[in-house]
Amino acid sequence: MNINENRYDKMRYNRCGNSGIKLPAISLGLWQNFGGYDTFENAKKLIFTAFNLGITHFDLANNYGPPPGSAELTFGKIIKDHLFNYRDEMLISSKAGYDMWSGPYGEWGSRKHLISSIDQSLKRLNLDYVDIFYSHRFDPNTPLEETMGALDQIVRSGKALYAGISNYKPEQTIRALKILNDLGTPCLIHQPRYSMYDRWIEDGLTDLLAKENVGAIVFSPLSQGLLTDKYLKEIPINSRAGKKHGFLQKNQVTQEFINKSKKLNEIAITRNQSLAQMAISWVLRNPIITSALIGASSINQIQENVKALNNLAFSKDELNKIEKILTS
Ligand SMILES: NC(=O)c1ccc[n+]([C@@H]2O[C@H](COP(=O)([O-])OP(=O)(O)OC[C@H]3O[C@@H](n4cnc5c(N)ncnc54)[C@H](OP(=O)(O)O)[C@@H]3O)[C@@H](O)[C@H]2O)c1
Repeated sequence: MNINENRYDKMRYNRCGNSGIKLPAISLGLWQNFGGYDTFENAKKLIFTAFNLGITHFDLANNYGPPPGSAELTFGKIIKDHLFNYRDEMLISSKAGYDMWSGPYGEWGSRKHLISSIDQSLKRLNLDYVDIFYSHRFDPNTPLEETMGALDQIVRSGKALYAGISNYKPEQTIRALKILNDLGTPCLIHQPRYSMYDRWIEDGLTDLLAKENVGAIVFSPLSQGLLTDKYLKEIPINSRAGKKHGFLQKNQVTQEFINKSKKLNEIAITRNQSLAQMAISWVLRNPIITSALIGASSINQIQENVKALNNLAFSKDELNKIEKILTS
């Protein structure tokens, strides 16, 4: 597969908080479709397609697969065999905190779990360091000083360049940012879920991140596919909701979502966008959002989704109409 020489021409790059790092406005996550049950050749095509479109950021976690760890193995092989010369053009992240291995140290936020986990991830990824390492979730039973201290240690040891937190609520975020600042390893980025169908971050988190000048990369902006035209008529067999090991359950594809998506789709058409493109533009409408972190099962989805950047502006009227649908 070839590398496109013009790969940086069309992508937008947004500064992440007040850091020196810029993220592509659209990043690719490897949570689904890169695991041991998926086709390696397709995974390779997805990575090349994304990179060739200027997507420099690839998001992983220790447990991505299924089975857990296999997405890092897939990505590690692609990097080693094909893209190692481009390592410095890529921003690669991983995380630890969710259930990964057996016994009392295989999950949550202890120093033991985080340090063991980064070592495992680097081996699977064939890398000396990741660019961002996240605490994947807040651990109510471990002192936050211990979890943040482990992130600081990981950065200081050179195993990660930056620290991040994911899924932390506003009050947990305030404490985490303070501890990291005091340690001298400021938090680069927060990774919460955000889409038209899940707006919890609007209730305090976005204001906090804006005030603290911390970046935000939002995951599942397409609500795992609900905010596309995929489910408007039926649940396709090879879709995330149709697959046996897909994370989106059939019963999550409710008539209420389908009705809303149909109405949103009509607005998208008037904007000359697909529903997926409008859903991505919508999360990026707030300047605090550094990047929309999408998933994809086909190269066509990546190619289509980056075209969201052709129309990021919303009129007041469009925003009002969308709001009415979302709150009805
Ligand atoms: N920090 C965390 O706790 C956490 C949790 C979840 C995810 N994440 C990160 O966020 C990333 C993205 O999550 P996500 O995969 O749920 O994001 P998403 O973008 O909301 O959903 C992606 C899925 O939507 C479908 N899709 C994408 N583009 C489409 C299009 N143009 N038309 C029709 N269908 C389309 C595909 O599913 P089909 O298989 O149906 O084609 C694709 O796999 C993950 O890979 C991971 O890196 C982080």
